[in-house]
Amino acid sequence: MSARSEERAGPASPQPRTAAGTASADVAARATTGFRQRYGAEPAGRWAAPGRVNLIGEHTDYNDGFVLPFALPMRTVVAAAPRDEPRWTVWSELDDEPVGFGPEEADEPGRVPGWAAYVAGVVWALRAAGQPVPGARLAVASDVPVGSGLSSSAAIESAVLAALVDLGNLDLPAERWPRLAQHAENDYVGAPTGIMDQSAVIRGRAGHALFLDCRTEQVDQIPFDLDAAGLAVLVVDSRAPHRHADGEYASRRRSCEEAARILGVPALRDVDPADLDAALAKLPDDETRRRVRHVVTEDQRVLDTVALLRAGRVGEIGPLLTASHASMRDDFEITVPEIDTAVEAALAAGAYGARMTGGGFGGCVLALVDASAADAVADAVAAAYAERGFAAPATRAVHPTGGVTRLD
Ligand code: GLA
Repeated sequence: MSARSEERAGPASPQPRTAAGTASADVAARATTGFRQRYGAEPAGRWAAPGRVNLIGEHTDYNDGFVLPFALPMRTVVAAAPRDEPRWTVWSELDDEPVGFGPEEADEPGRVPGWAAYVAGVVWALRAAGQPVPGARLAVASDVPVGSGLSSSAAIESAVLAALVDLGNLDLPAERWPRLAQHAENDYVGAPTGIMDQSAVIRGRAGHALFLDCRTEQVDQIPFDLDAAGLAVLVVDSRAPHRHADGEYASRRRSCEEAARILGVPALRDVDPADLDAALAKLPDDETRRRVRHVVTEDQRVLDTVALLRAGRVGEIGPLLTASHASMRDDFEITVPEIDTAVEAALAAGAYGARMTGGGFGGCVLALVDASAADAVADAVAAAYAERGFAAPATRAVHPTGGVTRLD
């Protein structure tokens, strides 16, 4: 990890912000301590995977479209050691009791429930791919917030995957890791997500946003140098309770797939924005038309954002971010009052752009602001929340960091 990967703290912010360098070191130490206490031995190594935030391109990944996420400074660390028999035991600081499972449970999706399903899912996906997965003991610590839409699940999947690949010397190039981790989440855990989160967490690069074509999995690392532009990205955890997020996500996905079928294209990515009106006219109802309009216009906003970033015009992407939010709010209908309040307050306080990030129905908002205005914007969001009687939001400034890595 480079120094750039550390969380950046604005002065006098409303939230305590971790001093540079301490967060990941603490998390790694907690994973080691947990391993020693639980297993009475030293780990063979430690692997760290970040959370992610998506700059733009929401609900486009499972439509074979474009996304532009980046990896966050918050990390999940797995301390692990191999064992002789094919059994896996995993302890997490989220839970006192470790969870143990063997091949029978790993080979049957759903047998290992709760957070440990993400670990069993990785074992399952590797075994399903014919890999000789080593048995292992694992201990997990994390400062990626759970349930905030910052991909704590992709972080644990990816850290565990990296650990098992290394411990078993598996012949598995890193380009294949995102699909395997997604496979674990889709088919073992049972969440029908796309490829974005795992790609960002595995392939992220410090100082860059990851421009991903979700059809071809081609990646372009786009320089995203906030310091040079005098800018900051704030991530506001809305603290909104997730409202039926899983069912709503799945139903959005079904609508998109059904619309693609009606339009006779493999995926909504294949609808040319120039032909959008003609495509919409073929759809049966207003709701489906709005869902399709979101996806098609959102893909174009990703391409426009990438073009601006490539031209070094970072400060000019703000209106695209805000347009993305309006599209999610009005057409895709995945925002909630806390989220809309945070976006409006950030914009009113001078943000260049702001939008919900992630799957929706809660989670986080990101805002692009002048670095010198970061605290004022964070304060304005907190004040708007207080006025509406919402639980206080948590705001932090973030920079793009590197993807999953072996620490030692
Ligand atoms: C969640 C999913 C991703 C993606 C986003 C929406 O984060 O895990 O695959 O679909 O929602 O863009």
